[in-house]
Amino acid sequence: MRTNGSRATRGRFLLAAIVQCVLVTGAVALLSPVHAAEEAAPAGGKEAGKEGWGSDWKTWRAGTDVENVASLQRGARDFASYCLGCHSLKYERWSRMAKDLDIPEDILAKDVLPPGDKPASYILTSMPAADAETWFGKTPPDLSLMARARGKDYLYRFLTTFYLDPTRPTGANNLQLPATAMPAVLSELEGVKRAVYKNEETQGAEGKTTTEPVFDHFEQVAPGRLSRAEYEGFARDIVNFLDYVGEPAQAARRSLGIWVVLFLLVFTWLAWLMKKEFWKDVH
Ligand code: HEC
Repeated sequence: MRTNGSRATRGRFLLAAIVQCVLVTGAVALLSPVHAAEEAAPAGGKEAGKEGWGSDWKTWRAGTDVENVASLQRGARDFASYCLGCHSLKYERWSRMAKDLDIPEDILAKDVLPPGDKPASYILTSMPAADAETWFGKTPPDLSLMARARGKDYLYRFLTTFYLDPTRPTGANNLQLPATAMPAVLSELEGVKRAVYKNEETQGAEGKTTTEPVFDHFEQVAPGRLSRAEYEGFARDIVNFLDYVGEPAQAARRSLGIWVVLFLLVFTWLAWLMKKEFWKDVH
């Protein structure tokens, strides 16, 4: 009896200690900064920067991280400067964006908001759809849900594979969206690149071989304001921002998810300890 009693006391003491540990861990977890500023893995092909590159463009990944707030802030600023002229984000308000991305009100007003827009306004382009239709033959689509519709790797490849093509009305073409109506609006930053083709033989149905030119690599024709690596970072920030806009709650939800899982794991362990403690005297 005595041994049982002291064992039970020890057990209870152990449990109390464990519960305390869990509480302290929880408190530390809640207080620690949730947004780990993790830099995205370099993507964009190992040959970038050399004479010719891009033969591996289909494997390029965005490698973005919606928890990287600094990247999202840059993406928001760059979207406002380079994309908003044609594209809207009609499901998102400026104020919601500023709150989610920790952008102070004065900076929002000074650096991001277009003249005439209020923080509560939706993020709308000032370009009339009818004019866009006349100029580009197509209305630039709303980009609110584009990251969800196309995927972020697609968006990254779209922004990084514009090339010179004098046969197109815009003077530019794109590997990801051939014959796109969107002009190469970032060429001031990226510079201008040309696509180099190689002839590839394909076996036809009746055993006939036909040669057709297929894309081989890019060649820089004119430099831009950014280096290759800087431009890739620029594209990645905008893609990251569009990924956030596609699902504004995801940053908070993901970081919360980790703690929920940890909490459940620890409590499973506690429950198991309790069960052991309660049942050991029964046998
Ligand atoms: C001068 C106007 C203009 C600007 C500025 C512009 N776009 Fe576009 N964008 C277009 C047009 C026009 C289309 C429709 C292209 C098509 O369907 O061929 C388009 C289409 C797109 C698409 C959809 C591609 C698809 O698969 O349907 C994405 C994504 C996109 N733009 C992203 C951007 C981003 C990001 C920026 C800012 C860096 C930007 N655009 C700036 C005119 C513009």
